[in-house]
Amino acid sequence: MIIEWDERYSVHHELLDLQHQELFELAKTVQKLDAATTTKAELSKLFKEFYDYMAKHFKEEEAYMQSIHYPLYIKHRKLHESIIEGMNKILKEKKTIEELQTSMQMIAKKWLAEHILENDLKIEKWRKSITVTDEDLKGGTPL
Ligand SMILES: [Fe+2]
Repeated sequence: MIIEWDERYSVHHELLDLQHQELFELAKTVQKLDAATTTKAELSKLFKEFYDYMAKHFKEEEAYMQSIHYPLYIKHRKLHESIIEGMNKILKEKKTIEELQTSMQMIAKKWLAEHILENDLKIEKWRKSITVTDEDLKGGTPL
């Protein structure tokens, strides 16, 4: 099954949401390729494109976590590192087109969708908890 981005995955951060959407799209492109007419080179190129975009996205998400002093930053960065390691392993192994597509299905489900729901959304929870609203600034006693 191909997983699509929807509001459930929103971390309420414009750039990160856009990048997550793009990752879902790239994963979908790989999964929808017709194995009978696609060459291994074409598939590898798309897979690599997904990998590069994911790596770039992780760096930006990590910078964002640091900017808001996210307390689980180190733990979260380690998760990103293990995902990248896992993808490196997949890319190094000699796989058939079908196997690469199955790998991409797993990546989209576990390392993209589940990672967002289980980990990225916690960043949003933290950000919300530390946000000082306009109301707070206007109102009464100084901090
Ligand atoms: Fe993340």
